[in-house]
Formats: sequence, C-alpha cells, structure tokens
Amino acid sequence: MTNADKPTIAVLGAGKIGEALLSGLLAGGRRPDELMFTERHGERASELTNRYGIRAVDVATAAKDARVLVVAVKPQDIEPLLDELAPAVGGDSLVVSLCAGLPTSLYERRLPDGVPVVRVMPNTPMVVGEAMSAISPGRFATADHLAVVEELLGVVGLVVRVPESQQDAVTALSGSGPAYFFFLVEAMIDAGILLGLPRAVSEKLIIQSAVGAATMLARTGEHPVTLREAVTSPAGTTIMAIRELENHGVRAALLAAIEAAHDRSQELGRQHED
Ligand SMILES: NC(=O)c1ccc[n+]([C@@H]2O[C@H](COP(=O)([O-])OP(=O)(O)OC[C@H]3O[C@@H](n4cnc5c(N)ncnc54)[C@H](OP(=O)(O)O)[C@@H]3O)[C@@H](O)[C@H]2O)c1
Repeated sequence: MTNADKPTIAVLGAGKIGEALLSGLLAGGRRPDELMFTERHGERASELTNRYGIRAVDVATAAKDARVLVVAVKPQDIEPLLDELAPAVGGDSLVVSLCAGLPTSLYERRLPDGVPVVRVMPNTPMVVGEAMSAISPGRFATADHLAVVEELLGVVGLVVRVPESQQDAVTALSGSGPAYFFFLVEAMIDAGILLGLPRAVSEKLIIQSAVGAATMLARTGEHPVTLREAVTSPAGTTIMAIRELENHGVRAALLAAIEAAHDRSQELGRQHED
C-alpha cells in the first residue's frame, strides 16, 4: 500500500489504548493530518492535540472524513457511541472495534446494513509498539478490510487473524497475558528481596532476565522447552527450582487461571448477544 492509498483514521475514544494507537501510527510515519480522534472532555482533547498535532472532531465529522473508524471506548460506554455513530456512518467506512468482549454482531445490529466491522483484541504493550493483536472479520468485512487492519495494527506490534469464536481464548491469553508476566516478575523480585538483595538490584536482575528471555523466544524461533533445557544442567541449580515449580503445581495453576479468564470473557460477551 503506498502512502497515498492509506486511509484516514479516526480513533473514537482516545484513552490509554486510543492514544497508544495514535502515537504508534505517528511513530510509524503517519502524518497528523491523516489522523483524528473524538473525546468527551475538552481538556483531554486539547492535551492530545497539543501533544501530537492531531485534530479533535465530533463523531459525525469522524464518520464523514475518515475511512477507518477505530472504536476504543470502554465496553460499558459503547451504547451512546453507537447512537451517535449509526446515523453518521456509511458502507464505505470500516469500523474497527478494540473493545474487549463486544461481538461484531452488536455493531451490525446497530449500524446501517453492510457496514464492515473488524473486531480486534489488542493488549497494553501497544504503548511501546509491542502489541499482540488478534483480528476477526464480521459478516460484511472482506479480505481487503482485514488487510487494512493488519497494516494499521502492524505499526504497533504483531497481528494474527482468528475466527471470532476464538476471541475469548485470545482475551485470556494475550489480552490478559501481560498481567500474568507482571505478576511473575513481581513474585521473582520478592524472591530476590527474600535472598537479601536490595530491591533495585533485584528489579534490574529480573526485568532484564525477562527482556532477554522474551527476546530469545521471539528472535531464535526455538521452542521454550529447548531454551529451558539449555540452562538446566544435571543436578544444577535450575533443575532444583524447576522441581519446586512442578511440586507447587505452577503449570496446572496457569492452565486453570487462563481457563478462568476465558470463562469470564465468555460470560461478559453474553451480555451483548442478540
Ligand atoms: N487497556 C487494556 O489493557 C486493553 C486491552 C485490550 C483491549 N482494550 C480495550 O480498549 C478499549 C479502551 O480501553 P482503555 O483502557 O484505553 O480505556 P480508557 O483509557 O478509559 O479510554 C476510553 C476513552 O474513551 C472516552 N470515551 C468514552 N465514551 C466516549 C464517547 N462517546 N465519545 C468519545 N470518547 C469517549 C473515555 O473518556 P472518559 O474519560 O470520559 O471516560 C476515555 O478517554 C476498551 O474497550 C478495552 O476493552 C483495552
């Protein structure tokens, strides 16, 4: 896609995720005049315009001037936004929903017939350009629409395509996933404190170990088992720790935890069914 073919993008609800997307798109070479956003509070709107040089608009203007409308409000704020969007949006727009748990059928019911919708489950590392986003087409979204969304979100991380029926699993894995890693890092830092290290040292050791391990996983393409075995020498220190992790059921706890997140995501999604 050449620069001239790139669609104008409006972010509806420029909170944490919306701002992360806007700043990522600018960092990826988009011009401020190709972007716009809507916000409820004038103060927040001025703050973003001053920071990024992007104009704040109302929903009707966004629907008229932008080809891609990225919905980034909290799921509980969706109804009033759809009330505003429905009379303004046309079939040549593409609606991209970043809202956890909201099915494409909700938008299709509320917006004019034929408006294409792509559902996305992103995650917070979008703020550092390292998001994992899973995208699913609604009834009217074509391969071209998916390609537009892939290109858009590819600027702020990686993108995979999944059927919409798998979005609850995605939510449980990569949507909530960063929180699991933060939890593990927090516990490992505490272990350093337990062993008498200063907190700052413990933090540095663990955070850099996490960055290093993640980079090895991403760059080498090696299976995690292979990488772990490479640092697990016979009767060494690592195997002693692994035995304790297995004794305490950490693997089973992760399976149960992620299944619980999946069940909760399904339960929240049922609130928006027909
Ligand atoms: N953060 C995450 O980890 C994450 C991960 C994956 C997906 N998501 C999804 O991303 C979406 C946004 O999450 P967030 O964490 O960025 O929330 P957030 O920081 O609360 O941002 C939402 C923004 O939308 C504004 N807003 C609400 N209704 C509006 C309307 N009718 N018109 C214009 N602006 C409106 C809100 O303004 P007010 O301040 O007035 O409320 C707020 O600034 C959610 O649907 C969430 O499910 C988030």
